Amino acid sequence: MALKNTNPTTTKAWQKLTDHFNENKNINIKDLFKNANRKEEFSIEFNDLHLDFSKNRITKETLSLLVELAEEVDLKDAIEKQFNGAVINVTEGREVLHTALRSTSEDAVLVNNKNIKPQIQTALRKIKSFSNKVISGKWKGYTGKSITDIVNIGIGGSDLGPDMIVESLQFYKNQLTTHFVSNVDGDHVSEIIKKLNPETTLFVIVSKTFTTQETITNAETIKDWFLKSATIFDIPKHFVAVSTNLEAVNNFGIDKANVFPMWNWVGGRFSLWSAVGLSISLSVGFDNYKALLNGAEEMDLHYRNTDFDKNIPVILALLSIWYNNFYGAETEAVLPYSQYLKKLPDYLQQAIMESNGKGVDRNGDKINYQTGTIVWGSTGTNMQHAFMQLVHQGTKLIPADFIGYKESLYGLTDHHNKLMANYNGQINALAFGKSKEEVHLELKTTGNQDKIATLLPFKVFEGNRPSNAILFDKLTPKSLGKLIALYEHKIFTQGILWNIYSYDQFGVELGKELAKKLLDK
Ligand code: F6P
Repeated sequence: MALKNTNPTTTKAWQKLTDHFNENKNINIKDLFKNANRKEEFSIEFNDLHLDFSKNRITKETLSLLVELAEEVDLKDAIEKQFNGAVINVTEGREVLHTALRSTSEDAVLVNNKNIKPQIQTALRKIKSFSNKVISGKWKGYTGKSITDIVNIGIGGSDLGPDMIVESLQFYKNQLTTHFVSNVDGDHVSEIIKKLNPETTLFVIVSKTFTTQETITNAETIKDWFLKSATIFDIPKHFVAVSTNLEAVNNFGIDKANVFPMWNWVGGRFSLWSAVGLSISLSVGFDNYKALLNGAEEMDLHYRNTDFDKNIPVILALLSIWYNNFYGAETEAVLPYSQYLKKLPDYLQQAIMESNGKGVDRNGDKINYQTGTIVWGSTGTNMQHAFMQLVHQGTKLIPADFIGYKESLYGLTDHHNKLMANYNGQINALAFGKSKEEVHLELKTTGNQDKIATLLPFKVFEGNRPSNAILFDKLTPKSLGKLIALYEHKIFTQGILWNIYSYDQFGVELGKELAKKLLDK
């Protein structure tokens, strides 16, 4: 049942891709658009999602060779193994089943010969009934008042996912105010505490291991602060936990009834679909939380059942490999044209870089090709006034994902038209640039003939800078679930192709150990 183990650079497809790259590396996106049908030929519609990947340095042949690579390393087999619960997180001896958390099918998924679907359903029911009680005001604090504030205490996957989703779904939020404490920097927790009333605040401590230094330190500080006005008998009304470590949760003083489960077969950075997402459900209500899961499931089914040349996560993964491993691109930008998605780049940094930032392959051998892409980004249009100069005219090749929505949520059409004109303007500027001739003509027709000699080279845009347009109808819990699952599957696909293990994270340990030693001195 183990994953196959193929060094991608030794495959026939890789050799063909290398030859193809050497022959075509100077291809220009502008020339490719001489084919009037290019946009249609390199676009995929999937319900409310439209992917336009026509503005890439690829031909049909490039795509078919990349697909050949995916087939040669048997990506299909790996996808099935992941969905079916094989122990594909070999170094930690674990299944990888975040997809089971959002599956609505009746099919059993077995872990140690036991179907995990019933426990997932039980956890969902518990999230639902708890969220309903808190949101409706039936859940009372120690002085009999309803809850007004939620504080999620966690870090990494126990913070970034819920925080990003709560921020992104602000439009769908209820009356509760949600806060996130993560950093061990005491000023972070102090600033949050300052805003809180202990009588009306609910603390959700999220830690798979319940040993993470930052989370436990923040939780203890908050408990001490709480106990200045309340007693230990009031803790059950104000503290709940999401964890696999029941003993540590119990030692912290949390009531058994207030513990939501986590499982070893869900990785931290893929856990927002589990009870780790409790603060999401509290913030936008269970129905919206469930819609988020349903959107993810829709993408899961697409990923699992669609041919690779029409498969959105697979295509995005292959394109990323094309630039990373053949063009030598160092980074990728994620550029959402929605202020709601301002935390998406941070979230994706953990998901992508903790997963695929690996330097040994599945044999344990040092890798001699590039893996893990560096991802960064920010929202449009703000970033146009920040880093886009470098993306347009700098010396680096930076493939970019432009995420956009056809409709805005509040319906300010004038704003939205401007936003989307910028979205398309940036994509076209990157792809097609502005030639010497165009700059020449422009300076001439604007009466700046005398400046041509001095200004022309600075005003030229080379273009040929690749991007993908990921366009949804509207930002909804469902479409957001789809978007996040898309990136999760892109990550897995790349890990399979690079022959690495995407689901461990030993690289974060050494620094933690050394910090602990320094503290123990
Ligand atoms: O940063 C390492 C890490 O293990 C992440 O993978 C995880 O999301 C985070 O720490 C938090 O871990 P826990 O949920 O166990 O507190």
